[in-house]
This record gives sequence, C-alpha cells and structure tokens, in this order.
Amino acid sequence: MEIIIQPTPEAGGIIAARIIAKLVRTKPDCVLGLATGSTPLATYRELVRMHHDEGLDFSRVTTFNLDEYVGLPPEHPHSYHAFMDEHFFGHVNVPRARIHIPDGMARDVPAECARYEAAIVAAAGIDLQLLGIGTDGHIGFNEPSSSLASRTRIKTLTERTRADNARFFGGDLAQVPFHCITMGVGTIMASREVLMLAFGARKADAVAAAVEGPITAMNPASMLQMHAVAKCVVDEPAAAKLSRRDYYRWVFANKPDWQRIA
Ligand code: F6R
Repeated sequence: MEIIIQPTPEAGGIIAARIIAKLVRTKPDCVLGLATGSTPLATYRELVRMHHDEGLDFSRVTTFNLDEYVGLPPEHPHSYHAFMDEHFFGHVNVPRARIHIPDGMARDVPAECARYEAAIVAAAGIDLQLLGIGTDGHIGFNEPSSSLASRTRIKTLTERTRADNARFFGGDLAQVPFHCITMGVGTIMASREVLMLAFGARKADAVAAAVEGPITAMNPASMLQMHAVAKCVVDEPAAAKLSRRDYYRWVFANKPDWQRIA
C-alpha cells in the first residue's frame, strides 16, 4: 500500500482529486466507485473546481456509490443520494443514467444487492474505488467481523458508527437508520485500484491497524493490504500512530518523475 501523508485534509483531498482526474482524462469512460461522509468532501470540491475551471469532463464516466441507508428514499435530505447530489453530481456532468447508488427503499433487498453487483459487472468493473474509513476500521459499511470476501448486502451499523454519523442527522441518534446496503469487502477488492482517505486524529487508531496491523475482519480496511494497487492518503493527525510514517514520507518525496501524481 502506498501511504501519502499530507499536512491538511484539504491538501489530501486535492491529491485524491488529482489521482481521480488523471484517470478521467486518460480513460474518459472510466468507472468510479464513490464514497460519502465528511472525508471525501475536499476531493469533491476540487473535482467540481476542475470541471468548471479546467473542463474536466465526466460525460462518459460511470459511477457506483458504496452504500445507502435502508429506509431512506433518494429525496430524503440525509440519504446518500441527496448527499451525492449536493456535493458532487449536482455540480458536474455525470449523466444521470450512469449514476448508480443502492436503492435503500428496495422491497426485495437481496434482489437489489444482486442487481447492484450485476450492474458493476455489466459496466466491466470499477476502475478506481474511493474510500473513507470508519473509526472502527469499516470501509463501505463493512463493520468489524464482516466477511473479507463479502459482496453487496444488507449490514447492521454498529452503535459506534450510528453515533459517529448522528452529526449528519442534526445530532439526533434516533434518526440514524440501523441498516444499510453496502458493497462488500470482496466487491471493493475487485476494483482495479483503491484510494482510501483518512483525516483527523479520530481515525489514527483505525488507520494504524489497517495499514500496519494484521489482516483481520476486525478491521475490514486491513484487507486493502492484499490489494495490488492501493493508495492511502492521510493528514498528519490521522498518520500519527503509523510507526513507519517517516519512511512513507521519504518514499513519497523520492518518487521517480513518471510515478508522480499529475
Ligand atoms: C461512506 C462510507 C463510510 C465512510 C466512513 C467515514 O460512503 O462508506 O465507510 O467513508 O464511515 O465517514 P466520515 O468520512 O464521515 O468520517
């Protein structure tokens, strides 16, 4: 895994946006896997800026989001459909027909999960999957003890994740759904490249366990150690518990020119 340590979430978000933009420019019909939450906000802001100021074109891009809450319709202000419209899709030119987010209102959840997996396959797979990490090490909503081979399915959120996400529901824990549909760890691992972001001291333990700890279902993000093309962009507070952080900085500073991020 390549660890990229940046001074601030803004700087980390810009690096991530450059990695994504480079893919969109070299492969205009690429398939992006997208995430919600606080972590990717700076990345979306920079991609929106690049779209407006530099003509970054998403017209042939296809997207698949990681997850959606069960029981929230797309128009619900706290749904991940609404989040993506507010922060990204409403400001760039990804065609509606190419946007995929699990249907949290599906009556037949297993059928919806199978449909989602089939849609990813029909799109020839995900080229790059953007990820955040939960304070408990989850990716998507694959909470600790999730199968490391799992595919899209319903999951029950831990109390910790519900409490972490209550801020998106005006701080009202009672409003946070208990269930979500999420891509599995296996689904994420099948993408050709993964780009995990983590910002803030609250993520430091989860990041250290994911990057330097053993591969374990108790920290699902640790499975990314098995991915051949995995990058992890962190700010200084999120990197604070990485024992080899000086080495990661040295590697990034001494990359050959051809490997530098555009
Ligand atoms: C979001 C997702 C989650 C978040 C994680 C971190 O689609 O799948 O794994 O990335 O919960 O959330 P934030 O960024 O809000 O700290």
